[in-house]
Amino acid sequence: MNIAAVDYDGLIPNNVALGQDVRVKRALEKWHPGYLNWWNDMGPEGFQESLVYLRTAVSVDPKGWAKFDYVRMPEYRWGVLLAPQMEGRKVNFGTHKGEPAWQEVPGEYRAMLRRLVVIQGDTEPASVEQQRHLGKTAPSLYDMRNLFQVNVEEGRHLWAMVYLLQKYFGTDGREEAEALLQRRSGDPDTPRMLGAFNEKTPDWLSFFMFTYFTDRDGKMQLEALAQSGFDPLSRTCRFMLTEEAHHMFVGETGVTRVVQRTCEAMKEAGITDPNEIEKVRKLGVIDLPTIQKKANLHFSLTLDLFGNEISTNAANAFHAGLKGRYREDRLKDDHQLESGTYPVLRLIDGKIQNEDSPALSALNMRLRDDYVVDANAGVGRWNKVIEGFGIPFEIKLPHVAFHRHIGEFSSIKADVNGHLMSDEQWTKHRGDFLPTDGDKDFIESLMKPQMEPAKFASWIAPPKVGIDNKPGDFEYVKLA
Ligand SMILES: [Fe+2]
Ligand SMILES: [Fe+2]
Repeated sequence: MNIAAVDYDGLIPNNVALGQDVRVKRALEKWHPGYLNWWNDMGPEGFQESLVYLRTAVSVDPKGWAKFDYVRMPEYRWGVLLAPQMEGRKVNFGTHKGEPAWQEVPGEYRAMLRRLVVIQGDTEPASVEQQRHLGKTAPSLYDMRNLFQVNVEEGRHLWAMVYLLQKYFGTDGREEAEALLQRRSGDPDTPRMLGAFNEKTPDWLSFFMFTYFTDRDGKMQLEALAQSGFDPLSRTCRFMLTEEAHHMFVGETGVTRVVQRTCEAMKEAGITDPNEIEKVRKLGVIDLPTIQKKANLHFSLTLDLFGNEISTNAANAFHAGLKGRYREDRLKDDHQLESGTYPVLRLIDGKIQNEDSPALSALNMRLRDDYVVDANAGVGRWNKVIEGFGIPFEIKLPHVAFHRHIGEFSSIKADVNGHLMSDEQWTKHRGDFLPTDGDKDFIESLMKPQMEPAKFASWIAPPKVGIDNKPGDFEYVKLA
């Protein structure tokens, strides 16, 4: 396939030869108005008429796949773009290992595959819904633009999954595509499918933590699906990962800038003790212990997305060749896991300890472990900033047993170090680990918009470089 061959002229930019696929083209064109209605109802509130400096995917060439320009968000070109097909690609794991990768859905796995696509698809619009109020309190035009970039790309990820549903899953695929526009984050009657996607993203520190921790779960899931023996799923996930990288960049650098501003303000005021919370807050910045609590919250909510540590669904999806491990193609083993074991952290005789479990059943645990390693890397970079100011404080990811609602540890209470607590102790100390109402009120009090080019709210440092190498005073959003 010619990777430059993106049809950009029709209603739906694509590199899947939609022009020759009348049935799917019609199905997507029929779905399109409902999507736009959803975007207008549930997308960024108050800025739909503004001109936003956005990147749009116009190619799948890794050397230059995007172009930047001012766009009104409802006019964004949401397209269907798959990474190039790899000649002779095979199923790389499970019972079908070594067979040619599937270009059509294998009949016996249809339901399982559809469920994987729907669950991934459901997270994409959910985060747009969660973040829809944030534009109004943006700490700068630069940040506002990044928020909207993430939002339009999550919209495109929904398109990516809907394309698979419409093309490969017939009537039930079409119904699922409709249902993806009907569910609403946090709605008691029609919630999104996964817990973390029904939580609120009430402030910008939450947004940065969400893009750092929760979009990173997205990365892990996409990496696992990019290994799929079902080739169209693999190809679409591979391209989504190039966009996803920016979302995590927004999170990581966002938190870094918050941390940096706090440290700068402490230094200017001569405060050396990070626990002088009230004094630090008076400076109009977010104290480090509160940043830690936010990290505890978003990390623990995100761990729940990996599901039960021991999972038959995960085993079945791997066995079938539909969902692999993180970077399966780089691992050195038999890729079938029929006999291997994997250590799983469990609650045994009232103690948290490792137990060797069949490797196939422990795949969720393994992906979660890979996630924790990945998530820790950026935390180290946050700590480098704090260290640079000589402030005695270290941000740490909490223990995996802390504040869980799914899996092995959902029935117990543990502190951030993984020490078991009674319900009574938990109630007493909860506010030491997770944001209290007071913390939330304080953060909310800082959420005043800063909409002048080159200016930033009191609690966040400017970025080191602009988007698309733009200068510091660039007008990333032209407000309508
Ligand atoms: Fe996404
Ligand atoms: Fe994302």
